[in-house]
Amino acid sequence: MIPDVVTTIAELRARVLGARHSGASIGLVPTMGALHEGHASLATRARADNGCVVASIFVNPLQFDRQDDLDAYPRTLDADVAALGNLGVELVFAPSPSEMYPVPPELGIDVGRLGDHLCGRHRPGHFRGVATVVMKLFQIVQPDRAYFGEKDAQQLAIIRRLVADFNLPVEVVGMPTLREADGLALSSRNRRLRPEERHLAVALSRALTEGRLAIEAGATDPATVRLAAAQAIPTAPRVRLEYFESVDPETMQPVDRISGTVTLAGALWVGDVRLIDNVRATPPLR
Ligand code: PAF
Repeated sequence: MIPDVVTTIAELRARVLGARHSGASIGLVPTMGALHEGHASLATRARADNGCVVASIFVNPLQFDRQDDLDAYPRTLDADVAALGNLGVELVFAPSPSEMYPVPPELGIDVGRLGDHLCGRHRPGHFRGVATVVMKLFQIVQPDRAYFGEKDAQQLAIIRRLVADFNLPVEVVGMPTLREADGLALSSRNRRLRPEERHLAVALSRALTEGRLAIEAGATDPATVRLAAAQAIPTAPRVRLEYFESVDPETMQPVDRISGTVTLAGALWVGDVRLIDNVRATPPLR
């Protein structure tokens, strides 16, 4: 199947209304394109759960804190549309920046404390931009369910809270992170890794594994866990661990002591590419 690619909000609304009138539930898979198997798992689940699936492809300028990162973000619309068609997605919403933001938006979603740490601390304004565009997509598509990857744990926590705090009638479905055979989390940014630097990228998932094992072995001090994780990061000129934190899975606040399940989250620079990943870790029962 080749999906219909809709570029205007008016047409998208009309198409979704038509599907709804025919009794279909609506699933939304928001993406920025450059799709990989992780996105495919979201679309596949959305296909199974809903009568009509809309995938959005929009590289949202509001969530980029650096112009060079926005410019370098991979754009592969034709291949993405073909892949979505193979997964049974019938509608692709691919608006231009001027369709989504005809004038620079004055208002935005304040993500509160949820954006204070991890990526929020290192990418000012990022989550305000994410929450704002997701709110707009929810208003435009009005889906019954929306699908997001757990790789972006902080993003997912913020979207869950957005839905709760604003009483949005959307069920948020989080899907597990998919990985390469060596453990590297699938990400649209992986394709920007230089071939000679690809082997370094796996250090982040190794660090998370070391951190998780430390917690499972009884470590309760986040500094000890960070130290264990840092051992997995090679000393190489173009590799830098930006952050590695143990946080509460819902509030995304760093914990002082690990006494229950935490999210371990990290960001690693490999050359010019910034990778993020996370795992859950639970201490042993005492
Ligand atoms: O995860 C992403 O691809 C983006 O942050 C999202 C949710 C599509 C919003 O632009």
